[in-house]
Amino acid sequence: MYSDNIRKLKPSATMAVSALAKRLQGEGRDILDLSAGEPDFDTPAFVRDAAIRAIQGGQTRYTPPAGTPALRKAIAARLTERAGREMHWEGVVVTSGAKQALFNAIFALFGPGDEVLIPAPYWTTYPDLVTIARAEPVIVRGDERRSFKITTADLESAATPRTRGLVLNSPCNPTGAVYSKSEVERLAAWARERNVWLISDEIYRAIYYGSEGTHAPGLLELPASALGPFVLVDGASKAFAMTGWRIGFTWADPELSKKMAALQSQITSNSTTPAQAAALEAYANVRAAEASVGEMCAAFRRRRDLVTSRMREMLPEVPFVDPEGAFYLYFRVDGFFGGGVKDATAWCSRLLEEQGVALVPGAAFGDDRWVRMSYAAADATLEKAFARIAAMVGAGSTA
Ligand SMILES: Cc1ncc(COP(=O)(O)O)c(C=O)c1O
Repeated sequence: MYSDNIRKLKPSATMAVSALAKRLQGEGRDILDLSAGEPDFDTPAFVRDAAIRAIQGGQTRYTPPAGTPALRKAIAARLTERAGREMHWEGVVVTSGAKQALFNAIFALFGPGDEVLIPAPYWTTYPDLVTIARAEPVIVRGDERRSFKITTADLESAATPRTRGLVLNSPCNPTGAVYSKSEVERLAAWARERNVWLISDEIYRAIYYGSEGTHAPGLLELPASALGPFVLVDGASKAFAMTGWRIGFTWADPELSKKMAALQSQITSNSTTPAQAAALEAYANVRAAEASVGEMCAAFRRRRDLVTSRMREMLPEVPFVDPEGAFYLYFRVDGFFGGGVKDATAWCSRLLEEQGVALVPGAAFGDDRWVRMSYAAADATLEKAFARIAAMVGAGSTA
């Protein structure tokens, strides 16, 4: 009845849990919603003010599909600073969120007969985007003892002559794992040697717990000679607490960027004009942006310390990935299965039903023995959530 384009399509699993948690909250239930993938901070005032000024000043019409030259140049200037070499502004395509940036790249690059390597655990949307392009997602499982980070040996055993792409995500959603610069370098060298497109999703780059004020290593920290064909994906959603504004971008060679802009011009056109004006302020007003990113990052770091200490104190038997970036805690719950609960999906439903805590089951990320907690929430909410989880699994509380 419907076309093959959507035959295998599933709605975003993480968004489904958030929607259920919101519905239960709306019914008056006391729900601690730790399912959402978004900062709990408001968009910084200097960014909001820029949008209001833009609307009042009449910036309410179409822009070019790839975004305003001013915003593309401001983004390119940040990338140039980071890379220490010129990242041409015509390589930037502004999109309606990093999700559309990924769609543009995957749809422009892959099609029937192509295989795309996706390290697991993966952000839930990657395999679906590859499937929408009618290419084949090939899941590459990292080793739990290495925080699930994949190696070139893992890639080698998954690659075939049809391998055309690799999607890398560091800091990783759902694990919070971060690839070191030398690890990124080795994976990039593998992709370059194989002539495989490397799509690097660096949306959590600014939320990093390495030395203070630094960002997680990514492709632009490598010299140009270390890179084969690549697409960098980033955006304003996480770094500037702008999830609802829908601003992401790709940087790629100008030829591919033209193709992706053409694709976008036939689907959504430009991302909204006032949101572009807001993002321009976020990317151009470097001092204000750095101050607000620094503040958010410090809060996330404190919460990271809080949730990892609670894991060690209250659930000492439960394996988890020590997060070095992003704002997720990924932990393993198959030790609690039994009595009709056979997977993390059932475990999470029970936790939501009995204790009012919303987490995302690992089925969304490729392994339904694990769950993801977003710790982008107030300290008191996190404390309460741990007390409730401990109560459900019958663990002793030190609180
Ligand atoms: C790894 C990853 N990439 C991309 C996105 C999409 O970001 P945006 O909201 O800008 O579309 C998300 C959002 O949760 C994400 O976790």
